[in-house]
Amino acid sequence: MNSLGLLYPRIGEASLQELAKNFYEEVGKIPELRSLYPEDLEAAERRIYLFLVQVLGGPQTYSEERGHPRLRMRHMQWKIDSKMRGHWMNAMLHAVDKVPLEQEVREELLGYFTQVANAMINHDHVE
Ligand code: HEM
Repeated sequence: MNSLGLLYPRIGEASLQELAKNFYEEVGKIPELRSLYPEDLEAAERRIYLFLVQVLGGPQTYSEERGHPRLRMRHMQWKIDSKMRGHWMNAMLHAVDKVPLEQEVREELLGYFTQVANAMINHDHVE
């Protein structure tokens, strides 16, 4: 298991729930990003929460409910260019900033999000 998979006990369920909640609050502040998401964000909040629990080494409930994450494939239905990635990363940065975390944990999380957000780009950004 990589070190990401060891973070769950260090972060804990409550902080991850808070992170997921904060994230969707931030999504709501960015119209371009918000427009991609469903009207009702409650189910989406649960999906990202369960996904993070799983990736960080907690219970594998996400895959029991949703199957293999296949994130890049699942994100193909939206046009994600570097600008949209920027919106997503801003929302996540603010969400992470509002959760009390050890600095090392914070850095590892943000490194992970940056890497995956880069991999989600499926469209060239043209001004
Ligand atoms: C780069 C820009 C990104 C955009 C624009 C984006 C957009 C979206 C949208 C619109 C949804 C649908 C919400 C729902 O109904 O669940 C979604 C789902 C999801 N996204 Fe992203 N996303 C991005 C990056 C990421 C990253 C970096 C991660 C993980 C580190 C991630 C993880 C997920 C997960 C786990 C789901 C739920 C998948 C499912 O079970 O259906 N996304 N994303």
